[in-house]
Order: sequence, then C-alpha cells, then structure tokens
Amino acid sequence: MKSLIETLTQIPGPPGYENKIRAVVRAEIESHADEIRVDALGNLIARKGSKAGNGKRIMLSAHMDEIGVIATHIDENGFVRFTNVGGVFPRYAPSGRVRFLDGTIGVIGTEKITNSYKVPPLDKMFIDVGANGRTNCPIKVGDVAVFERPLTEMGGRLVSKAMDDRISVAILIEALKKLKKTPHEIYFVFSVQEEVGVRGATTAAFGVDPELGLAIDVTRTGDTPKSITMEVALGAGPAIKVKDSGMITDPRVVDWMVRIAAKAKIPYQLEVLERGGTDARAIQLTRSGVPAGCLSIPCRYVHSPSEMVDYNDVQNALKLLLALLNDTGVFQMS
Ligand code: CO
Ligand code: ZN
Repeated sequence: MKSLIETLTQIPGPPGYENKIRAVVRAEIESHADEIRVDALGNLIARKGSKAGNGKRIMLSAHMDEIGVIATHIDENGFVRFTNVGGVFPRYAPSGRVRFLDGTIGVIGTEKITNSYKVPPLDKMFIDVGANGRTNCPIKVGDVAVFERPLTEMGGRLVSKAMDDRISVAILIEALKKLKKTPHEIYFVFSVQEEVGVRGATTAAFGVDPELGLAIDVTRTGDTPKSITMEVALGAGPAIKVKDSGMITDPRVVDWMVRIAAKAKIPYQLEVLERGGTDARAIQLTRSGVPAGCLSIPCRYVHSPSEMVDYNDVQNALKLLLALLNDTGVFQMS
C-alpha cells in the first residue's frame, strides 16, 4: 500500500484539475468495480454490490483534490503573483516550492520583511520560476500549481504533500479491492473540489442519493508541543468524528462506528474538530438529508507541504472501514 500512497501523493491535482489523479485512481479500480462513471464536475463514482436484506445504499467519499495556488499576475521581471485555491496558510509558504501543471517548478519568495515575527500575507509573496522577463515566463495568468514535496518515511510515519486527502483515496481504493461480498450497494466516490467548499461531494451526493454516507478524510491532532487542545493523537487509531465546524455527526452513526470498532478490536479515537469540515457535510445536507459520518485519519501539519500520518492508523482505518461495510446490522432508523 505504501507505493500506492507514494504514487497518489505525488500527482498534482489542485481543485478543478483532478484529471491526472482521476486517471490513476480509475486504472487502479477498473477491474474491481461493478460500474464506474464520472459526473459533470469530475467526481469518479464506482459502485460495488447490490442491496440485499437489510442492505443500504451507502456513499463513501474521499477527495482527490489538494490545496494549491493560482497565478494572478506576471510582472515585467517574470515574477508570478498568486492567490490560494483552498486553505493555503501563509506561514507554510515562504521558500517552499510549487509545481505547475506543465511541470514548471517555482520558489516562493517574499517582499522585504520588516517584522520577522509576523507572517506576510500571500499578496506580499511571489513565485520565482527562473524567468527574467514577462515574455520568457512559462506561466500565464490562471495557471495553477501545488506544493512540491516528495514522500518520506520516518519510522512508522509517512510524510508528504497532499496526504490530505490522498491517504484516504488510497484507503478507498484498497477497501474497494478487498471487499468481497457486501449486503450493501456501495458507491465509492473519489470527489473533486473539496478544498474550495465540498463542491464535488455536493453534486455526487445528489446523484447517488445515498441512505447513509461516510467521508474519509484527515483530521488535526493535539499531540505536538504546545499544540491546540484536541484529543486526537498520531498512532492511537483512526478517529470517529463527532463534530467539526461543518457537521454534527448523526449520533446513531457515531454509535454504530464505535460498536463495530470495539467488536473488531480496532483502536479508535473520538474526534471533535473545532475548525474544518469534510465531504460528509455535503452528504448529510443533500436532498432532504442523509445520516452521515466521517472516518478520520489523524494528521499533523495539515495543509502544509509536510502532512504526517501514522501507517498503523492508516491500516486500522482500512480495517475499520471494511468491518463497517461488512456489517449487516447497520443502524436502524427510528
Ligand atoms: Co484539506
Ligand atoms: Zn481533506
């Protein structure tokens, strides 16, 4: 699974430009799904199984896009001004490198710093692509780029750009391949444009019309020096979301996930994320409403070029997802 994670994290896929990553995911799952389609926004939707007995129509969603930047202006010396596409934190940007879709690499520079304790906003930064004038600059207004950073393994941890949310894309691919028989009709959605406000999952959920939804996405941790106060720690198991700023998880879904994790003896953590949201919000609020939840992968340095996950958490998340999908006693509506 590690080589799949490496392949997936290294492909550039800023919001709206998921075509390359979609092609790779499609090739991975093609021979394992019962049906595959791509909707108008670019969501890749794969079905496996048909409803039998107590089975439900379930939508799973992991987003293919990653945060990125977009060129807004090229000056006469060939420096590229840019803005964010999704949640790019200015503090993580200076001296980092970005890769445009045509392969051009750029270094992020800043205007002169007068107070070195204050992070400049993105509009005081520029991308240096090695050009010396506007005419030989390979980048034009509207070109998009993502962070450039290889995957590194440190002990039991994996670090890369775009762990958010390629780690969950990898988990969904593995789950689809490993799932043998299921009483459910399961839609594996590899969604687009999550980072700009769960746009892909919004249309995908409407199209799938699920009876139950689960997003798989990363969440923050509270386990680094003087970090935010948060219970989630790296290596302590996948997290079951109770609340984030976009969703209050249906308590029946939380109970179901906890019950199955305990039964399968898979370590888990309960997650309350004070800032952030996932595709689960779009699923929960589609049509007249859907019970939804989220399986979270603990991740340090979210939305930085070095997002860190624990490989045991990843494997336990996959185990828990499979245990949930094999459960015939999925919670009853009342
Ligand atoms: Co994100
Ligand atoms: Zn995410």
